[in-house]
Amino acid sequence: LARKEETQPRRTGTAVMGSLQFGYNTGVINAPQNRFYNETWSSRFSEPIPPGTLTALWSLSVAIFSVGGMIGSFSISLFVNRFGRKNSMLMANVLVFIAATFMGLSQLAGSFEMLIIGRFIIGVYSGLSTGFVPMYIEEISPTSIRGALGTLHQLGVVVGILMAQIFGIEAIMGNATLWPLLLGFTILPAILQCALLPLCPESPRYLLMNCNEEIKACNVLKKLRGTDNVGEDLQEMRNENQQMMREKKVTIIELFRSTIYRQPIFVAIMLQLSQQLSGINAVFYYSTRIFERAGVAQPVYATIGTGVVNTAFTVVSLFVVERVGRKPLHLTGLMGMAISAVLLTVAMSLLDKFSWMSYISIAAIFSFVAFFEIGPGPIPWFIVAELFSQGPRPAAIAVAGFCNWSANFLVGMCFQYVEQLCGPYVFIIFTVLLLGFFTFTYFKVPETKGRTFDEIAAGFRMSAGHGADKYSAPEEFNTLRGDDPDL
Ligand code: GLC
Repeated sequence: LARKEETQPRRTGTAVMGSLQFGYNTGVINAPQNRFYNETWSSRFSEPIPPGTLTALWSLSVAIFSVGGMIGSFSISLFVNRFGRKNSMLMANVLVFIAATFMGLSQLAGSFEMLIIGRFIIGVYSGLSTGFVPMYIEEISPTSIRGALGTLHQLGVVVGILMAQIFGIEAIMGNATLWPLLLGFTILPAILQCALLPLCPESPRYLLMNCNEEIKACNVLKKLRGTDNVGEDLQEMRNENQQMMREKKVTIIELFRSTIYRQPIFVAIMLQLSQQLSGINAVFYYSTRIFERAGVAQPVYATIGTGVVNTAFTVVSLFVVERVGRKPLHLTGLMGMAISAVLLTVAMSLLDKFSWMSYISIAAIFSFVAFFEIGPGPIPWFIVAELFSQGPRPAAIAVAGFCNWSANFLVGMCFQYVEQLCGPYVFIIFTVLLLGFFTFTYFKVPETKGRTFDEIAAGFRMSAGHGADKYSAPEEFNTLRGDDPDL
């Protein structure tokens, strides 16, 4: 066990460099580059940039990242079965090198187009990563700690955001001269990952089920588990393989057509939407502005505070997810966020009367973020891999990722406008959505803790009316009805 604990996080650590990039590039765009647009425009056209054009270019630079993410996440199934999980991650780094060059040299070249193209390319990479990384981690992890290791993807994301927030302080790199370096820095985790990935094994599930290489799969398993006694794991994969061979090749269209997959793909999509439509990125993209509006004296430091709380509570989730389970944590997170959003609304609307309400706003935003990381942050990313067996997994992760990124794009684009319309009541919209997702999760999301991929899939097959087969257990039926058997 000691060996397992020592080696697993190292491998997952290498994979989550990809998650770090996603987080870093989510957080980095807060740094002030407006001046660059203005200067570039003035030197090209000998007049200051019209304010409308500046806002449009700025929004484009922020949002094009999510457009890239949508394309990247949707493409993952093109890679993972052809090149393998590990090689797909390795190859994707080419995108980081190109993106970092474009972004890092944009100021030197006096071209904001380069910055926008770079943001798009790093978005494609991040979209790919949000599929590759959870898939790889889930496939190499033992069932008993799969959720904890799966949470490391989100930990990578939040550490990335925090690094970007800290490096983005004006005194460090968030200033007129150093910002290209801040954006170009994204190349460092890519170099590290390229050096370390060749030392990591390929997913044993991929080797066995996609390449038919049982001996190789067995050797990798022995290394991963730190023991020669891997018979049980191997048998589980063989069972899953047999099931896979009985099914047709699963394409994205098939996911929606087949009665077996319809329910899990619906659950997967709703969980992704619950993550993004919770309003979390309204905080991360616009936190400094929200804090300014809430009358906070040092908004930049309050923003870094959100990053710290964000990271701390992801660590909490990491330690409790295997004990408490996915479903109770997701429910707690959604309800806690809904209550925090109400608190924030009250505080913002009473700000004119009581100036100390600014402190309540900070507390509300911190607790909003903390509850997010308890469940809705980490769980949707890794649970999709758990809801599907090997055959449909890549297509399902692609669909789920695409929905996540589309909702991310929607919130990023619309929040400013909706805020102008609703003023301090904007977070009420998120409260309503959060309560809706809470109800959905309570009734429809099964617990996946401690169950093998094959058992989970068998549960869905059974509830779709395909009868019990030799792999299903009665508990699964109960969990699909919303109970949480103590497994
Ligand atoms: C999740 C979300 C991402 C968000 C982050 C905040 O990873 O997918 O959009 O910015 O959490 O921690």
